[in-house]
Amino acid sequence: MSDKIVKIFDTTLRDGEQSPGASMNMEEKIQIALQLEKLGVDIIEAGFAAASPGDFEAIVNISNTVTNSTICSLARALERDIKAAGEAIKSAKHQRIHTFIATSPIHMQYKLKLTPDEVIKKAVDAVTYAKTFTPDVEFSCEDAGRSEMPFLKEILDAVIQAGATTLNIPDTVGYRMPEEMGAMIRELSEFVQDRAIISVHCHNDLGLAVANSLASIQNGARQVECTVNGLGERAGNAAMEEIVMALKTRKDFFDGLDTNINTQEIIPSSKMVANISGIYPQPNKAIVGKNAFAHESGIHQDGVLKHQETYEIIKPEDIGLHDADTIILGKLSGRHAFAQKITALGFQLIDEEIDKSFERFKRLADKKKEIFDDDLRAIVTDEIVKVKEAYTLLNLQINDCMNGIPSSAISIQHNDEIITDAGIGNGTMDAIFKTIDRISTIEGELVDYRVNAVTEGKDALAKVTVKVIFDNSKPAVTGHGLHVDTMLASARAYISALNSYLATKDILRKKSGEGV
Ligand code: KIV
Ligand code: ZN
Repeated sequence: MSDKIVKIFDTTLRDGEQSPGASMNMEEKIQIALQLEKLGVDIIEAGFAAASPGDFEAIVNISNTVTNSTICSLARALERDIKAAGEAIKSAKHQRIHTFIATSPIHMQYKLKLTPDEVIKKAVDAVTYAKTFTPDVEFSCEDAGRSEMPFLKEILDAVIQAGATTLNIPDTVGYRMPEEMGAMIRELSEFVQDRAIISVHCHNDLGLAVANSLASIQNGARQVECTVNGLGERAGNAAMEEIVMALKTRKDFFDGLDTNINTQEIIPSSKMVANISGIYPQPNKAIVGKNAFAHESGIHQDGVLKHQETYEIIKPEDIGLHDADTIILGKLSGRHAFAQKITALGFQLIDEEIDKSFERFKRLADKKKEIFDDDLRAIVTDEIVKVKEAYTLLNLQINDCMNGIPSSAISIQHNDEIITDAGIGNGTMDAIFKTIDRISTIEGELVDYRVNAVTEGKDALAKVTVKVIFDNSKPAVTGHGLHVDTMLASARAYISALNSYLATKDILRKKSGEGV
C-alpha cells in the first residue's frame, strides 16, 4: 500500500445502524455493502456478530457477497464475542476482527469495574484469541479521547505484542478539540512507529468529528473510521464524504494524501443510505446536502455561470452529481432500459427483483408525469429490501371527512387467507394503524412517523418511515412505505414494520432451535 493512502473504514452498517431508528434488515444491509464496495471503501464493518442473530447472519451474507473490501465484525474483548465475529467473517475473502475495551478512568471504574491491569489482560487475551481466526486484528481503546496517555501507550504496546495490526483511537464521546486530537495522534504515532497502523474513530457530539479526523490524518493516522452521511450514535460519526473530499480538494494541504474512494459513487451511496435508513441529510449538509451545490443569490449564480470555480470548490460531477440525474425514463421505456438504469444507479438485482421493480415503475409512470432517478431509487429500495411478507396490503379505503368519524376498511393477505376489517380512530392514520392491528392481532405502538417527498412537484412520491413497537417488545422496528398517496404509503410503512418484526422473531426462533 502506498504510504500516501489513508484507508477508509466504513462503519455505516455498525455504528451507523446504532443511530436511533436506522436499523436495517438483511437485504438492505447487503445492498449497502455492495454499494460500499463499489465506492471503494477498504474495510466494511458489517456489524457486531454477537449482538443478535440478525447481525450475525447479515455479516455472513455480506462476507459471501463482497469480494474487494475487507469484511470486519466488531467484538467486545470477550471470548464469546470474538468467536461469533470469527465465525461470521470466515467466508470473507479479506477478513478482520475488531475488538475493543474501554481505557478511560471513568469507563474502567464505573462501567467495567476493572483495574487498569485487568483491562490490559483482557485486551491482550482478546487480541491473542482473535488472531486464531484471522491475521488482521484491530484493537480499539474505547473512550481514548478521555484516556490517559501513559495508559494508552502501555495497552497499545501490549496489544501490538499480542499481534494487533491496526490500533484504533476513538474519541467515543466527541470530546476532543482538533488540536488536542492531532497532538494525541502525533504522540501515539511516534510511539507506535511502523509496528501497526494508527486509526481514528471520531464522534460528532461537538460537531468536530470530521475536523478531528482530519487533524489526526495530518498527524499520522492512516485509517479513518467514518459513515456515509455521518450516520451514527447520538450526533453521529465523522462523515465519510466530507473527509474524502477534504483530502481530495486540499491535497496541497494534506501533503498529497489520498484515499481509494471512487468519489463519483459518493452521491449514489449517500442516497442509498438515506433511502434505506429513512434518515436524510440536512439540506445544507456539506457535500451531499440538497443545497450543497445550489446557488440562490444572483451574484453567486452570475459568478458560477461565468466561471464555475468562482463559487464551487468541488465539481458536482466529481461526486456523482449529474444534471442527468433529472433524467427520466418514460411510460414507454422497456424493461431493458429500466434494468440498465437501475444498475447504473448502483443496485444489483436478480431477475425477479427487476421484474417487480419494473412493474412498480410502470404503475408509477401511469400516475406521475416525470419519473426521476430519485423516484427509481425509492421504488427499487422499497421493492427489493422487503423482507418475506407475512402480510400484504391488498386494499385500503378511508373516510377522512371533516366532521365525521375517521375510519378505514382494509383487506390484507396473510398466508392464503384474505382478511378484511374496518376500524375507527382519532384521525385517519390512527384508524388505518388500528385496523391493521385488529387484522394481525398484534398490537403496535407508533413511536415515530416521518414523511418525505421523494422529488419535487404535487405528484411527488411520498416516502413514509415509521418506527413501531409491537407486542410491547423493544426495540422498535422500522418500516418504509412508498406511494403517491400518503395514506397508502403510511399503511404500507406500518405493514412493512410488522413484517420486519415477524421476520426478526423468525430468525430468533430458528436460532434457538424451535423452528428447525
Ligand atoms: O465510539 C466508539 O468508541 C466505538 C468503538 C466500539 C470503536 O464505536
Ligand atoms: Zn463509535
